[in-house]
Amino acid sequence: MNSPRNTVLDGDARTVLATIPDNSIDTVITSPPYFLLRRYHAGTDEVGAEPTVAEYLTRLLDVCDEIARVLKPTGSLFINVADSYSRHDRFGAPPKGLLLVPQRLALGLADRGWTIRNHIVWAKPNPTPASVTDRMTATHETVLHAVRERRYFYDLDTCRVPMKSTRGLTTRPQRAMSNTGSRATSARRPQRPSWAGPLAGRNDGLERARAEGRAGHPSGLKNPGDVWTIATAGFRGAHHAVFPEALVERPLLATCPARVCATCGLPWRQQDGKPIAAACSCEAAWQPGLVLDPFMGAGTTGVAATRHGRDWLGIELNPNYRDLATNRIAATASVRSHRPNDGDAPTQGASLAHSQATDRPVDPDGVLRRPDQCRRRQTVRTLAQARRRPQHLALPSRESGRRPVRDDRHRPSRARTDHGR
Ligand SMILES: C[S@@+](CC[C@H](N)C(=O)[O-])C[C@H]1O[C@@H](n2cnc3c(N)ncnc32)[C@H](O)[C@@H]1O
Repeated sequence: MNSPRNTVLDGDARTVLATIPDNSIDTVITSPPYFLLRRYHAGTDEVGAEPTVAEYLTRLLDVCDEIARVLKPTGSLFINVADSYSRHDRFGAPPKGLLLVPQRLALGLADRGWTIRNHIVWAKPNPTPASVTDRMTATHETVLHAVRERRYFYDLDTCRVPMKSTRGLTTRPQRAMSNTGSRATSARRPQRPSWAGPLAGRNDGLERARAEGRAGHPSGLKNPGDVWTIATAGFRGAHHAVFPEALVERPLLATCPARVCATCGLPWRQQDGKPIAAACSCEAAWQPGLVLDPFMGAGTTGVAATRHGRDWLGIELNPNYRDLATNRIAATASVRSHRPNDGDAPTQGASLAHSQATDRPVDPDGVLRRPDQCRRRQTVRTLAQARRRPQHLALPSRESGRRPVRDDRHRPSRARTDHGR
C-alpha cells in the first residue's frame, strides 16, 4: 500500500506513524527535539521535555520502532542528535556531565534491532563561542545512520567528493604490493597482513586501483567519510531549530532512490548515469523515492527532497510549523518548476499522476530495460553532475556563501547548550 506523500501530517510522531502502511518509506531523515534544550510550544506530547534522559530516549526509541515498521527493507534512517550537559543528577548524569545522548541512542537502536552503519560527526565551522574554561567548546553534533537489513539501497556515487591531492597518483599500472610488503599479482587476492585482527578493515580496493595505475576510484572522486563540515542553517523564518539543507542532501541522494517501482516499491539503480529498472516483474511505471521526516519543523527535509526530485512526507505537532513547512516547500517547488530544464523533473504532487500513468511512452533518456516503462526523465545527479558541483555537498559552508544565523538551534546560546559550565 502507498503512503501519503508530499504533505505534512498533523500530530504526534508516534501516533501518526502508526497510520502509515508497512514498508512504504525509502528513507527517514530527521532531527528530533534535543533533550531539554528548546521549547516548541507543541503541547503535552512534545518530545524533548521529559524529566530524565532515559525517558526522553524511550520516547525516541518508540518512534524509531514505528519507523522500523514503515521503512522498506532497503531503507535507511538518519537521525541527528546533539548532546547536552546535565545540571542535576536527576536528569541522568552528575552536574557538568555530558548526558551521552548520541551514544545512548545508538545503543538503544542496536538493542531494538537496528544496525548502526555510521556515527557521522557533523562538524560546525561556525560554532557558538563558549566561555567555559575547564573543557573544550562543543563544535559538533551526531548523525546516526541505521538500517534494518544487511543489504539496503545506497548510491555512494551521488555523494563522492574530489580527492584533495593527486600526489601519488600512479600513471603506469603496477603489480600490487601485498600488505606484507611482497609483490602480489593483480589476479591474486592480497594477503591479509599478520598484524590484522578479525575486524581490521581491508584495503583490497586500493590494491586493485594501484594495480590498474589509479590512485583511487575511477571517477577521481572519493568517499566523503564520516566527518561532515557543514555550516549551520541560514533559514531566517519563524522556526529556530532548522538544520542545514546540506546535512540532508547527502543522505537523501545516497539512500532515497530517484525512482522506485510504483507497484512493489523496489528501488531502481543507476549505471553510468543511466537509470536501470528495479529487479522486479511488476512491469509498472516508476515514482520517486519517498523520504519521511517525523519531526518536520520548518520542512528542510521536504525542501531538499523537492529540489532533488524525491517525494517527501512530514509529521509535525505544532500546526504553525506545519504551515511554515508547507509554504516553504511549495516555494521551493515553484522555483523549481519555473527553472529552465526542470520541466521533466517530478515536482510536488506530480509523482502520483506519473505513477498512475497508463500510457508509457518511450523513455527519453534511454533506460536500459523496457523503454515503454517511463514517461519522465529522472533528475538524479549523475556522476558528471556531481563533479560539476561537488562543493555544494562537500564544502557548503564556504562555497554556498550561506551566512550563519543566531537563531538556529544548532547554534544555541551558551546557557542552553552547557548551562554556562
Ligand atoms: C528540531 S525541530 C525539526 C527541525 C527540522 N529538522 C527543520 O529543519 O526544520 C523538531 C520539531 O519536532 C516537533 N515536535 C516536537 N514533538 C513532536 C512530536 N511528539 N511529534 C511530532 N513533532 C514533534 C517540534 O515542534 C519541532 O518543530
